[in-house]
Amino acid sequence: EDIPVLCIDGPTASGKGTLTERVAERLGYHVLESGALYRATALAARAAGIAWTDEARVASMARSLALHFSGGRCYLEDEDITDALRAEEIGLGASAVAALPAVRAALHELQLSFRRVPGLVADGRDMGTAIFPAAPLKVFLTASAEKRAERRYKQLISKGFSANMEGLLRDLEARDLQDKTRSSSPLVPAQDAFLLDNSDLSIDASVEQVLQWWAQKQ
Ligand code: C5P
Repeated sequence: EDIPVLCIDGPTASGKGTLTERVAERLGYHVLESGALYRATALAARAAGIAWTDEARVASMARSLALHFSGGRCYLEDEDITDALRAEEIGLGASAVAALPAVRAALHELQLSFRRVPGLVADGRDMGTAIFPAAPLKVFLTASAEKRAERRYKQLISKGFSANMEGLLRDLEARDLQDKTRSSSPLVPAQDAFLLDNSDLSIDASVEQVLQWWAQKQ
């Protein structure tokens, strides 16, 4: 319980992943990319022919996920699913299964298990509100929808996926709406979160800001 956790929550494509990795690297901490757990659940459900709306079966799938993280890659059973997880369709599937309370409950303990010495940087939607409510530092990262769509576009193209800006902006707004309005752990800043809008901020500047807040908490 004394192991420090730093939470970075925010909407899709706000830059949480990069910020989390960089901050964790600087502090020598572990990383929890919680979105990957929801994405892996959506991917595994689809592979098993289970509809993303079938709460009981998707939850039981989530409980028995054989996920491993190693060398920056993510494996389901023995299959490297790192790239497949990033597909836009799997992001939408993740958002669909993440709205189901039984699925969130099924993944709760798995997320807690990432908290190991010397510390953890956790990235998601509800790290500060639901999973690590007592964390000493919570950051809520935002950026304009246009900036986020642009980043997602570049990310997808660089991974060899095809993408179009208009479609991405539409998907992103649909996903934000779904994440914010669901009844189970909606996307909202924790009351004690520091808000960081990085629309016009470099990644380095964002990293420095978070490390500065972290230093103030020590
Ligand atoms: O962060 P990422 O885009 O990988 O997350 C995919 C989806 O998983 C999000 O749209 C959200 O619906 C869900 N999610 C969540 N809670 C988290 C992390 C992700 O509901 N802690």
